[in-house]
Amino acid sequence: MNMLPLFENTKVNVVQNNNFVEDFDVLVACEDTLKFLETIPDKTVELVVSSPPYNIGKSYEDRTVFKEYLGFQKQVIEECHRVLKSNGNFCWEVGNYMEKGEV
Ligand SMILES: C[S@@+](CC[C@H](N)C(=O)[O-])C[C@H]1O[C@@H](n2cnc3c(N)ncnc32)[C@H](O)[C@@H]1O
Repeated sequence: MNMLPLFENTKVNVVQNNNFVEDFDVLVACEDTLKFLETIPDKTVELVVSSPPYNIGKSYEDRTVFKEYLGFQKQVIEECHRVLKSNGNFCWEVGNYMEKGEV
C-alpha cells in the first residue's frame, strides 16, 4: 500500500482474515464491519472513523427501512464504543435523509 506523507512514520496494519494485530497506529480492514470489530479487544483504540452506508439509495448500497438501518448502525456504534478508550473519539459520517412517514 502506498502511504501518503502524513502516514510515513505511522504503523498502518491492514488486517486480513480478521486477525487482530496488537502493534498498530492505524488499523484498516476490508471486512464486514461487525466481524472485524468483534476481533478488537475492549478499550483499544483512540479514534474510530466510520463512514457507513448512508441509506439514501446510492448506487453501492441496498436501501432499507430507516428503523432497520438504525438497528444495524446501533450495533456498529455499540461495538465502536466498546473498542474505544475512555478518552477516545468517534467520527460517524452519515447522511440524514428520511422518507416522509418513515421512522
Ligand atoms: C458511504 S460509503 C463509504 C465511503 C468512503 N468513506 C469513501 O470516502 O469512499 C459506505 C461503504 O460501506 C461499505 N459497507 C457496507 N456494508 C458494510 C459492512 N457490513 N461492513 C463493511 N463495510 C460495509 C460499502 O461497501 C461502502 O463502500
